[in-house]
This record gives sequence, structure tokens and C-alpha cells, in this order.
Amino acid sequence: MNRRQFLFNSLTTMVAWSWSQWSRADAATPAMEHRMDMSKMAMPEAETPMVNGASIELNQLISGEPLKALTAMNLTAGDADIYIKPSEQVWQKNGTATHTWSYQAEGGTLIEVMEGDQVVLTAHNDLPENSTIHWHGIDIPSDQDGHPHMPIEPKSKRTYAFTIPEGSAGTYWYHPHPHKRTSFQSAQGLAAPIIIRSKNDPLSALDLAEHLLFFTAPQLDDKGQIAPISMSEQMNGRVGSMVLVNGQLSPVLNVAPNTMLRLRLVNATNARYLRLSFGKTAMVQIASDGGLLEAPLAPQTELLLAPAERAEVCVTITEATTLQALPYDKGWMDGGMGWKDPTQASLDLLQVKVAGDPVKTPTLPTQLRSIKKLGEAKTTRQFILSENMAMSMAGGKHSMTMDFLINGKTFDMQRVDFTNKVGEVELWEIINNTDMDHPFHIHGSQFQVIEIEENGKVTPYPYLAWKDTINTKAGQTVRLKIAQSQAGLRMYHCHVLEHEDLGMMGQFEVKA
Ligand code: C2O
Ligand code: CU
Ligand code: CU
Repeated sequence: MNRRQFLFNSLTTMVAWSWSQWSRADAATPAMEHRMDMSKMAMPEAETPMVNGASIELNQLISGEPLKALTAMNLTAGDADIYIKPSEQVWQKNGTATHTWSYQAEGGTLIEVMEGDQVVLTAHNDLPENSTIHWHGIDIPSDQDGHPHMPIEPKSKRTYAFTIPEGSAGTYWYHPHPHKRTSFQSAQGLAAPIIIRSKNDPLSALDLAEHLLFFTAPQLDDKGQIAPISMSEQMNGRVGSMVLVNGQLSPVLNVAPNTMLRLRLVNATNARYLRLSFGKTAMVQIASDGGLLEAPLAPQTELLLAPAERAEVCVTITEATTLQALPYDKGWMDGGMGWKDPTQASLDLLQVKVAGDPVKTPTLPTQLRSIKKLGEAKTTRQFILSENMAMSMAGGKHSMTMDFLINGKTFDMQRVDFTNKVGEVELWEIINNTDMDHPFHIHGSQFQVIEIEENGKVTPYPYLAWKDTINTKAGQTVRLKIAQSQAGLRMYHCHVLEHEDLGMMGQFEVKA
């Protein structure tokens, strides 16, 4: 692929290699001889492998079990304790446990609430390092939002208290957001869903069979343990050796013929693009990140869910079908070393089987809700995504630095990139000057995507929706409108968590 936009740094104390030298086959020596420049890397491990080693074969893992529903947390008057701790998952047929980290709470980790609810969630950190909980996509006060400025130290706790905003009904999720450790902690297994419901859900009368499908993509080593994040993954993101639904490999859902399913889809992977398809069985999208659309979209046989995005789809099951993740080319970087893109094979995610007497398929309403268009923008801002890479030899050791930048800068906790004002509509242009896709996410209020420009051709975004994450493909410019509803510090970043940790993030202060 075309790497002309890659820039190379020469580090004064090291001899910088050019891309062609780095790409030479004789540079592709095994991982152990390569050491990272620790000042730049997200991971403190002594050795960061160049590339993932072999993973345990999928046929060694349990699959084909009935789909388990993720159960809801007991929220007594809105209160709950969430424990962030080491845990175990049994994925292997031989019963060997995989050491993971997870959220644990009475009843389950799914937070299921109504608009207007007040919640008081106390997070207890039982990990050996700082963590936070970020309530992805929900417009809550900045000081409750679990961003990297408010770490919870090991053996301590923090209470997050907030009100679920009116109009926010939809599917969200929560995950860690500690400084430079988001990728690692998420890869260990920390991520869980949130469903916000509304008293006036236009679909409630249809009584659809609703299922939450929470996608994660652990990378297992040959023993079935979580593999360390490699250099290839720092560049390409952790896409996983498998994609799980509710923690299960290719589970089975049994339904009566003609059942209309309402599926809440959450891409909670570190970096795996999910090009979802039920084959010829069509999906009707009814909601995006921030809840219902204005009307159901035309039936489609594919839906791309970028990392951190959510969607709701209705699917009428007339015969057995399988939900698959199809190959998606996000612009894989092979590092000049032939790093393979493992996402080029289709994966089975969920097997839907049909049994019993046919039921009557309900009809979806033609209107779901109305969304008010954000008005004229007062300010236009540009966010240019770029990459910076250096390969060097110092003291006889290869070393590589990778930065993922916004407006030429790497994230700095001490720097506020700009300030703006509550309620003011702004036009943001996200300009992807790299060779790969980056899913761009903004904290605080949801935004509306206006148009996408590619090769000089501008295409209006096909529908009005509230979103908090939008994919930007290599070379694209995405224009969106946003108005923050409340004052405080907010972040924006690439939701390939490895890129976020390597600096593709900024922060702004919303003034009252
Ligand atoms: Cu889901 Cu700042 O992230
Ligand atoms: Cu977020
Ligand atoms: Cu990125």
C-alpha cells in the first residue's frame, strides 16, 4: 500500500533508518532483538514483540453454546458498586482458564437505566495500576466522566454520580481511560455495556425479541492467555485472534420462524472493524450511537461498525442464518516486515437457528423520533490526523518510535488544545492524512455528521443521527457539527485504543 504520507523523524541520538532500509527483508529479524524506545511507547513491558506469536487454534475453544444474555447490575435506588479486578474466563474446551481483568457487580455488568435516572456508581480499583471508568457517549459532567485526569489508584475507589440525560435512550458502554493504559486494560477484558431506555420507545408496543450483542476481540497466545500488545498492534490496533459475542465464541440463538429481532450492537473491541452481515438476510438500522434515528433506514445486507460505534438493527429471521464479520480493509500496515492482516477472513459471530411455529412479523413504524438539526456553525476547526514513525539503531539495538498525531501534536495532559463555549455550534473537519482508517470520538455531547469528502467529491451524510464516534478512512475529510451542552474538560481521540495511547488525542475546555 501507499506509504508516501508516512513521515520519518530523525532522533538526534540515534541513527534513523529510512523506510526502505527498515522494509528490507534482513531487517525482519525475530522479535526478541528489537527493543522499544520506552519514552515513547505506551506499554511499560520490557519486551514488546514485533508481531503476535501464534494463537491457540479456534477449534480448541468452546463454541456453539446458547447465547447468554449479559445480565443487569442491581441498581438499588441507582446505587451500585463496581469492582475492577483480575478474573478468569474459561474459553478452552480443556477447561484451562484465561487470566483477564473484568468489571464485577451484583447482578451483572450491564447497566440498564431509564432516561432521567440518577446513578451513583462506586468503582473499586483492585488492579495493580491506576484505572478510571469512562461512560462512553453519555453527556454527563466532565468531572464524572472518568477521563485520564482523574485516576483511581490501586486499592482505592471513586464514586461517579450523574443523571441520565433526557433524549439519550440508546446503547452505550463503559471502559477504562487511564493515561496511556487504555489499550492494555481494555485488551485485558475491561469493557461492559449500558442500555438507556425511554418511557416513550416507539417500538415498545411491537414487543420485539431484543438482544444485546456486545463484541470484544481478545488476542490469545498459543496457551490461550491474553497476548502482550505487539508493535504491529500498536500500529494497526489490536484486532484480536477471535471476535466474541457477549464473551462467547460463535454462540447460537434459537428463534421461531418470522421473528423480528431487535439487536443492539456494540463494537467494544480495541481496534477491530466489524463489517457485519447476515448474508442475504437484511438488517434495518433503527439507531446509531446516540439512539434512534428519525426513521428506519432501507434494508441493508452489510453494516460497518467501527471500534466504539453502536447500532440497533431489526432483522426478520425467516430461515437459519449466521451473523458474520466480513473482511474489511482498513489500510493494514505491514511494517515492511510482512505483518499479516488477520481480518481478511470471514468470522462467524452468531448462529441463528429456526425452530417451532412461525410467528407473525410485526411492522416497524415509519417514524421513530425527530432529531433537531444543529444550526449555523460559529466556528470551524480542523483536526488533521497524521502519523510519525522512526526506526533507529542505538547501542546495536533496533528501536522504533511511533506517534499518532492530531494537528502535528501528540497528546499532552498539561496542554489544553483549545477552548470553546457551551451551546455554540461548531463545524469540525476531521482530515485523515494517513494511510489507514481512524475512528474519531468526542467526549461530552453527541454530534451530527454533515458530509464526507473523498478525492474532492463531497457526499452528504445519508441520514441525520446523533453520534459520538465516526470512522474516517484514509484520505477522507469528515465534517460534523457539535455543540457542547455543559462546561468542562473534554477529550477527542482516535478510538483505536493503541493510537489513543500513542498520542492521537487532544483535549478542550468548554467554558460556561
Ligand atoms: Cu470510548 Cu475517550 O473513549
Ligand atoms: Cu468517550
Ligand atoms: Cu487511529
